[in-house]
Amino acid sequence: QHSIVIAGGGSTYTPEIVLMLLDNLDKFPIRQLKLYDNDSERQSTIAKACEIIIKEQAPHIQFVATDNPEIGFTDVDFVMAHIRVGKYEMREKDEKLPLKYNVIGQETCGPGGIAYGLRSIKGVVEIIDYMEMYSPNAWMLNYSNPASIVAEACRELRPESRVLNICDHPIGLEDRMAKMVGLDSRKDLTIRYYGLNHFGWYTDVQDKDGNDLLPQIKSYMAENGFNLNAIGKETRNSDPSWLHTYDMAKFVYELDPNTIPNTYLKYYLFPNTEVEIADANRTRANEVIDGREKRVFGECRKIVEKGTAKETALEIGAHATYIVDLACALSYNTHERMLIMVENNGAISNFDATAMVEIPCLVGSKGAEPLSIGSVPTFQKGLMEQQVAVEKLAVEAYTEGSKQKLYQAFALSKTIPSADIAKDLLDELIEANKDYWPTL
Ligand code: G6P
Repeated sequence: QHSIVIAGGGSTYTPEIVLMLLDNLDKFPIRQLKLYDNDSERQSTIAKACEIIIKEQAPHIQFVATDNPEIGFTDVDFVMAHIRVGKYEMREKDEKLPLKYNVIGQETCGPGGIAYGLRSIKGVVEIIDYMEMYSPNAWMLNYSNPASIVAEACRELRPESRVLNICDHPIGLEDRMAKMVGLDSRKDLTIRYYGLNHFGWYTDVQDKDGNDLLPQIKSYMAENGFNLNAIGKETRNSDPSWLHTYDMAKFVYELDPNTIPNTYLKYYLFPNTEVEIADANRTRANEVIDGREKRVFGECRKIVEKGTAKETALEIGAHATYIVDLACALSYNTHERMLIMVENNGAISNFDATAMVEIPCLVGSKGAEPLSIGSVPTFQKGLMEQQVAVEKLAVEAYTEGSKQKLYQAFALSKTIPSADIAKDLLDELIEANKDYWPTL
């Protein structure tokens, strides 16, 4: 029986994760579930709804919602962290300020991602420290964004900590690939993948019997990218921005038809197209504020008013089951094969040993054991070297309080075409983030 704290309890992802945990109690029994958020007002609606859901489905679970770190982090085995420092107000700035300069406006890629990274580091490190202070034997499953920069900061600032950095995006892509070949879910696939977070490539996809599924996936990709409309399975997220992303994967794929790319590569490889189709007045942040935020808070309020969740439209976060898989692997030493961000350390033989790479690992009670990838081709290596340097410079800028290094990070990013633009944009982002960043 486990005890968990969800850090970032006020996130609109929290209810679907709670529902997913309740749906998996046979695999992963829970005795106590806590929500922790430093914004107790935001968390309260979500928490009240979660409390009702838990009472109805699993009354034996002790439920706690708090903004007090000692209460939140004492007596837990797992910290599940998905914090958003600066919330949607700052996400909007991350996306809109770069677009003023015709530069990619995105929450994890390019200057917006770097800006978000410099905000997140402090928050994530604070949560690691709470965990180590109050529950030193716990594991932190961290899927806070921007995951690449956050993972590098963990490596640099808390190298010995029991933190596993993981991302849900490949999970979603694998579910899509499974559907392309008529299988139910990612669980029916064995994959090989390498790269950085939101910056990688699948090199092998097999079914459980070892049959090579890549040829079939490739021929689907060449026509449709990751868009599942052609097989009538485009259901999960039909927001226009995501559909565009799935469509664009087809063009990213053309650059190396030997591999299946992560969709986020479009921001680095097709920045002009992405800027052209962007609306600087209405970005993804606005889509989420008007969509998911209203929907989830609305549903939670309904649950609280009615005092029951029996008819709720909130859904189980099915793709979030990777969180349970990871927790089970650590608790029960399952050696499940999962994509985790780990220090390269030779796994990619021709790449920086100190880079945080996203590669398949076997996860057991001692953590993640990376599988060997071998050497990667020049095209991918070149892109990865540039991007990893950006991420390292961003973390160094944070730790050293160095504006110079941040300027270098901006100038080096493939999403920013010229250093003079980098400089002006940096000045605007420093001003916008003055309540969050260290003094540079
Ligand atoms: C994917 C990525 C996450 C990202 C999310 C954004 O799941 O892996 O890193 O946070 O998309 O989704 P949103 O709906 O907030 O734009």
